[in-house]
Amino acid sequence: MTALDHSTELLQAFEEFQRDYPDYEKTHLIDELRARDFSRLDAQGHIYLDYTGGGLYGVSQIDRHMDLLRGTVFGNPHSVNPTSFRTSELIKKTRDHVLDFFNASPEEYGIVFTANASQALKLVGESYPFDVGDNFLLTFDNHNSVNGIREFDRARGARTTYIPAVPPDMRVSDESLDRALELAVTGDHNLFAFPAQSNFSGVQHPLEWIERAQKRGWDVLLDAAAFVPTNRLDLSQWHPDYVALSFYKMFGYPTGVGALIARWPALKKLHRPWFAGGTITVASVQADRHYPAEGSAAFEDGTLDYSNIPAVDFGLDFLETVGLEQIRQRSHCLTGWLLQSLLALRHRNGKQLVQLFGPSGLESRGATITLNLKDSSGQTMDHEVIEHLAKKRKISLRTGCFCNPGAGEMALGLSKQELLKCFQSSGQSMTYDDFRLCIDGRSVGAVRISIGIASNFKDAFSFVEFAKQFLE
Ligand SMILES: Cc1ncc(COP(=O)(O)O)c(C=O)c1O
Repeated sequence: MTALDHSTELLQAFEEFQRDYPDYEKTHLIDELRARDFSRLDAQGHIYLDYTGGGLYGVSQIDRHMDLLRGTVFGNPHSVNPTSFRTSELIKKTRDHVLDFFNASPEEYGIVFTANASQALKLVGESYPFDVGDNFLLTFDNHNSVNGIREFDRARGARTTYIPAVPPDMRVSDESLDRALELAVTGDHNLFAFPAQSNFSGVQHPLEWIERAQKRGWDVLLDAAAFVPTNRLDLSQWHPDYVALSFYKMFGYPTGVGALIARWPALKKLHRPWFAGGTITVASVQADRHYPAEGSAAFEDGTLDYSNIPAVDFGLDFLETVGLEQIRQRSHCLTGWLLQSLLALRHRNGKQLVQLFGPSGLESRGATITLNLKDSSGQTMDHEVIEHLAKKRKISLRTGCFCNPGAGEMALGLSKQELLKCFQSSGQSMTYDDFRLCIDGRSVGAVRISIGIASNFKDAFSFVEFAKQFLE
């Protein structure tokens, strides 16, 4: 327990934790990694609990990348000169590594490098051949970068349908999913989008939905951004048509690179609304025509972030060295302990301190925990105050609705009627404060903590100690 400081309470809690979660011991290599690659966390006294917001990089990733940059002459990959050739080789190596990491066959899947998960999602939204009578189906529980696709489908006369995620567990019932899947019209274009893991509640929606939906005529867009940092997505077992992700969420560095992983026929189905440098074979001004490039190139606008893309290769190596299974196992143990410890906190009058949004058990859930704190009269404490106090203890957590308004509305009990009233009464713009006022000052947000690659018991313990200060 080298990385922990040795207060008696911490040591005692750690012993009990190890008894309850014996698998944690099997992940002891991560403690060595934390001391070696993430020493900045303890050196600067940070308690980092926002891995769903952004992953952390190990210093060895940076060292490898800096060495590469120092020793390589990179040319723009849109040429065939020697420096350009070297850059293209490194990009190809990274593309192959991404496919390999996700166990995706190159015959089945292609990689489109994007700036982030949002750009990957937008590529699908803007290029999917929505037309009048087509369908876009999605869960309430989705990031805004998926919700935003509805603007594309509406503009072309397609229909948007949401499937509710029901509190307190924030899961989707089989009946409502099956009913919604019936909406697919044979011969039309039907797109179904859901997150493999919720960035709000940590719920892992079943990957079995992919085949179930495809059998009924849907193309499936899987938002894997919050799932892949601590879970293996095996694309030889699951076959979504489109997968979106950001690499910084997996291993912290580089930021600014994400991917759309798409099945070749699904990629062919997309029609880009414009063309750009790199996305065409030939374009003519006078003939007013252009021909799109084949495969991934048709979707990679302009020049790729070619000095950073090789760092993705190193990031994947880093994750492979640590072992995704170890990260998953450790996250699982810490999440279980956090849930158990937080839900046990009670005010003197017996009322629970923590209101949890999402599953209280470990089954089909990831390492993201969202909650509000309640005072002894049952009033929700302001999440902004909690964030402010956490900051004083150098605890990095996230508050608000985490760009997932659908899950937030369901979890916090905001009805369609009151939301419509607010939106109808506002003009062209609405600030967060206006919105809050409109719903009678009720809480429109929550507090989120999340565990990841470098987490240890002390991080979890520190948050529970922090929460205890709110007990009366
Ligand atoms: C589930 C999910 N989808 C999409 C995104 C968008 O990712 P990015 O901001 O990297 O584009 C996020 C970011 O938090 C997320 O958690």
